[in-house]
Amino acid sequence: MKIVQPNARISDDEFIIGLSTIKSTKTYGDAKSFYQTVDNNLSNDTIMYDVYRTTNETPSAKQDLMWGMTVLYPVLVNNECNMTRGHFHQDQDRSEVYYGFDGEGLLLLMDKDGNTWAEQVFKGSIHLIDGQYGHRLINTTSDKPLKVIACWSKHAGYDYEYVEQNPFSYRVFLEKEKIVAKPNK
Ligand SMILES: [Fe+2]
Repeated sequence: MKIVQPNARISDDEFIIGLSTIKSTKTYGDAKSFYQTVDNNLSNDTIMYDVYRTTNETPSAKQDLMWGMTVLYPVLVNNECNMTRGHFHQDQDRSEVYYGFDGEGLLLLMDKDGNTWAEQVFKGSIHLIDGQYGHRLINTTSDKPLKVIACWSKHAGYDYEYVEQNPFSYRVFLEKEKIVAKPNK
């Protein structure tokens, strides 16, 4: 029997490395519109989060599952907690799994009627996300990266526009070291 190396792994620095791994970075300049207000103390090249995505897919293969890690840095934007862009799936029958790898935060979920709620994310938390709900990660600390591993179908697709037109109905702030959720006006 042949025994081979896996295509990717989590490095000693707790980032994903591997031949088929793609890293993409979101800066404050890219993400400015996510937050309620503009923070002039943050430069446009501040890194808000990195996404590592890895796949076995080849042009001819009909492989389905992708996995990756989001590293959401502890950046506050005028006290608003850092967060991912958030999306719905184009195919609502395709679900997704999140696994809390390190740090602390919230998984914000929203149905298409605008009802918004959250699950606590921490090292070891596991989240099964129903494909009909929008989802966004929030780092609720000021000092620790939130690292979440995800596994999803490449056929799920991303619907970012829906969230832009129908934003999550709560925003999360860190005020005097307390997590405060406020209705999104
Ligand atoms: Fe997703």
